[in-house]
Amino acid sequence: MRVQVVIIGGGPSGLLLGQLLHRRGIDAVVLERKTRDYVLGRIRAGVLETGLVQLMEEAGCARRLHAEGYIHDGTCIANGDDSFHIDFRALTGTPVVVYGQTELTRDLYDARADCGAPTEFQVDHVTIHDADSDAPYVTYSVDGESRRIDCDFIAGCDGFHGVSRKTIPQDIRREYEKIYPFGWLGILSETPPVHDELIYASSDRGFALCSMRNENLSRYYIQCSLSDHPEDWTDAAFWAELKRRIPADMAERLVTGPSIEKSIAPLRSFVTEPMRWGRLFLCGDAAHIVPPTGAKGLNTAASDVHYLYQGLCDYYGNASHAGLDAYSQRALARIWKAERFSWWFSSLLHRYPDQSEFDLKMQQADIAFLRDNDAQQKAFAENYVGLPY
Ligand code: FAD
Ligand code: DHB
Repeated sequence: MRVQVVIIGGGPSGLLLGQLLHRRGIDAVVLERKTRDYVLGRIRAGVLETGLVQLMEEAGCARRLHAEGYIHDGTCIANGDDSFHIDFRALTGTPVVVYGQTELTRDLYDARADCGAPTEFQVDHVTIHDADSDAPYVTYSVDGESRRIDCDFIAGCDGFHGVSRKTIPQDIRREYEKIYPFGWLGILSETPPVHDELIYASSDRGFALCSMRNENLSRYYIQCSLSDHPEDWTDAAFWAELKRRIPADMAERLVTGPSIEKSIAPLRSFVTEPMRWGRLFLCGDAAHIVPPTGAKGLNTAASDVHYLYQGLCDYYGNASHAGLDAYSQRALARIWKAERFSWWFSSLLHRYPDQSEFDLKMQQADIAFLRDNDAQQKAFAENYVGLPY
């Protein structure tokens, strides 16, 4: 079999790239290790930048997002019992959209099925061959049967644990990493959100985030220890801890209920450079990870897709290599800014085990500066709604 582009990984980046290419008549196959239901069972991000919304529109997949997504013009930052509002629309003219990654992924899978674009699920032993030549190919197995696909290009959209990044020889790859000394315990519950905007909260007991999916589905997170396990946390213990970390008036209004999902995610900053090796291009979590505090994980995956899509359109439409040659540098320039914002916002609101009294004072001063300074609020808002592509 031969296609123009093999996409490894059927998460949001692989699916979005596949759909954009399909609309331009560029044929691609998506290879996914898991089943569709497994991918759709993973509860992850919930905030979309307008750049991602526009890509979904261009992919012809934004109908449900526009009908069911929630436009948020700002967010609330809480510190102990105090809180303040940051007005994205007033500061930048741009809102964000609250729409779950699960739903976005479902829309992309449905669009792929509707147009008959090929997806292979439950593939094993995916191996990239000759990516540094003009004749790359990918081998894999399904149900014990070996297959081979020859192609022009390979998009490595297979997440942090995928094979694509590791295919780039170690002497070419440079990796940068920071592991944070805590995780996030998240729950999903069929309860109304505590507030009409997200609340990012700092408290003496650590960070908390109140988010949502719709008017009867809430997503809450609390900073937890890396040694915690979700089963150690009863629902009652989670709600009690969340209430202690958000302002008292909000805690009083909080509607609690049984959790329908509970999981712990470690926090990590990670970037690999370069994001291209020959005819292999890395996209999304395969190349970089941000701590989730600024809601940038899914959105940085989308900006990679944008640059790679432009590069591939340039190649197939105008026989130009310029976009592909610039891919890694363009994508990384934006990624590092998102890394900086996510690192800074995480540092602003979490409690660190080794934090000194001085460090705490710096954190408090940083929060007060954000509360009181218009320029700082504008810089925050520009980063949160997404820097231009
Ligand atoms: P992924 O979503 O990881 O998709 C990669 C796909 O490749 C997967 O479906 C995987 O099964 C498949 N794959 C892996 N290896 C292979 C292989 N060898 N062969 C074939 N297929 C393979 N971001 C936020 O902004 N907010 C959040 O709250 C948030 N929470 C998160 C919680 C968790 C537990 C994790 C892991 C991430 C979270 N993120 C969050 C980050 C965000 O979800 C990711 O940035 C986003 O999913 C990136 O999309 P992707 O398509 O690049 O990678
Ligand atoms: C969500 C997750 C985030 O990391 C974030 O910053 C905002 C919202 C969420 O899952 O809803």
